Amino acid sequence: MYKYDHIDQTLVDQRVAQFRDQVARRLDGSLAEEEFRPLRLQNGLYHQRHAYMLRVAIPYGLFNSKQLRTMALIAEKYDRGYGHFTTRQNIQYNWVTLEDTPDILAELAKVEMHAIQTSGNCIRNITSDAFAGVAGDEYVDPRPVCELLRQWSTLHPEFAHLPRKFKFAINGAKEDRTILLCHDVGIELKKNTNGELIADIYAGGGMGRTPILGALIKTDLPWQLLPSYLTALLRVYNRFGRRDNLYKARIKILVKALSPEEFARQVEGEWLHIKNGDDNFTQAEWDRVAKHFTKPAYKNLPKLSDEQIINAASETEKASFARWLERNVKSHQVPGYASVILSLKPHGSVAPGDATTAQMLAIADLADQYSFGELRATHEQNLVLADVEQSKLYALWQEAKKQKVALPNIGLLTDIIACPGGDFCSLANAKSLPIAKAIQERFDDLDYLFDLGDISLNISGCINSCGHHHVGNIGVLGVDKDGEEWYQITLGGEQGNDAAIGKVIGPSFYADEIPDVMTNIINTYVERRSHDESFIETYRRLGVVPFKEAAYKNAKKKEKAEVAGDAS
Ligand code: HEM
Ligand code: SF4
Repeated sequence: MYKYDHIDQTLVDQRVAQFRDQVARRLDGSLAEEEFRPLRLQNGLYHQRHAYMLRVAIPYGLFNSKQLRTMALIAEKYDRGYGHFTTRQNIQYNWVTLEDTPDILAELAKVEMHAIQTSGNCIRNITSDAFAGVAGDEYVDPRPVCELLRQWSTLHPEFAHLPRKFKFAINGAKEDRTILLCHDVGIELKKNTNGELIADIYAGGGMGRTPILGALIKTDLPWQLLPSYLTALLRVYNRFGRRDNLYKARIKILVKALSPEEFARQVEGEWLHIKNGDDNFTQAEWDRVAKHFTKPAYKNLPKLSDEQIINAASETEKASFARWLERNVKSHQVPGYASVILSLKPHGSVAPGDATTAQMLAIADLADQYSFGELRATHEQNLVLADVEQSKLYALWQEAKKQKVALPNIGLLTDIIACPGGDFCSLANAKSLPIAKAIQERFDDLDYLFDLGDISLNISGCINSCGHHHVGNIGVLGVDKDGEEWYQITLGGEQGNDAAIGKVIGPSFYADEIPDVMTNIINTYVERRSHDESFIETYRRLGVVPFKEAAYKNAKKKEKAEVAGDAS
């Protein structure tokens, strides 16, 4: 993985020193909160419901065991013994104090990490495929481009004060695991017939109160020209984005207002002036960065069949080991290797995406022992050991079980994406975490979950949509009505190659109704599915009506909800 050079290290060290001074001035009263606020936000420090929250970037989701140990120690020393992995490949600490923040950032700087540009109206942490470099369906390893763009966008003087936050996702595989179309800019990497690296650019995707899928605005852009093209794109946004209205300030609103074609035309116009300038990437730059993403020292190993792998387990364990292999283990480019997803979604005990200090320390050891010391954070808030020898999967499974990160629920109903919601977030309308817990407790039977197969369930505590409920097959959104917490259900959303925005099924429900509503929706799927049909396929075939009727079957408070007036 990328290793900081002198420039990177100086930059983060200087930023820590600068922030230490700013915090000291805030604490002695020489900086007022309104003066300090933009400074702390530039360092990922939010003020939330109970305490400060620090968001730390994990660039394109890639990190090493040493970094994880530091994350664990920060959780132990400065927080309450856990950290929260988010959908955008960041880790958040929910209970830090202002006084400690400079020390936390100094600890992070020692392991080449920081919290710069994890907040504010700038280019945020660039996200990518958690299986980059190992996925069997990969066209191009996206990591060198991710790193080049990370460097290009870090403290870019022209784009530090955009109309609103700006999120890039970069994909290089057949399957989109980056939710490319839900980003302000999605970059799809591929090779042309001459084997040259090129990119398609999607713009104007986003969630929030106006969910929109990104539109294709440029095809076959040579990788070298990414900086000038993106500069042109950001300039058009910087100039015409709706700074006058917070709710209309994201690029998606501009692209929609102009139409993708007109937006693309304006970007081309701006690009004409700069496309031959000296801002573009050179081969020397590529070589400087790409050398960090060479393959690890793989052994020459035979490819094992599922049967051979399962045979490592005892008779009594075979069935559960096979389940774990089916859900949590993914194919690899190199014979004899596999990628393992460690589930951070135990049923009903902790918030989706949370890992304790003890778990993080143990997982760091597992990374060293089984996967060349490297890890990845996924969009679904789980962790990945990307390079595990197939013959060691059984031993790893045993270790992962001890850490309670071996639940075979990846991609199943209880692999819930959830934002922190009303338990932590000061913008929340309703709590997310107790809803996730109640659903996991209701659907705790693994046999049943397996039978249901792939279903994505996403929960957001307010319309900002941090839990991506719009693109969950089932989405749950917390809404506030007269000071009470209600939940609106959407169905039919999908992330990935067939991305779609879910539809609101009707009036909202109380929290205590949600498990029954889920049961009724799921029962409808089970009753109506045809052989081997997934939830989303059944939904697309039947439409919303039978699911909607089932959802409201026992809605005891339906009348009240309708009076409260949700759109159906
Ligand atoms: C607790 C503190 C948090 C605050 C105050 C916060 C705030 C926000 C706001 C205001 C937006 C909407 C921006 C807009 O549409 O203009 C947003 C979007 C988003 N946030 Fe958060 N968020 C928080 C935590 C999280 C967490 C924990 C995650 C991941 C689990 C997350 C992931 C996202 C994503 C994926 C989006 C939507 C994508 C988009 O359209 O940008 N956020 N957040
Ligand atoms: S969706 Fe709303 S409640 Fe949830 S983290 Fe985002 S801003 Fe907070």
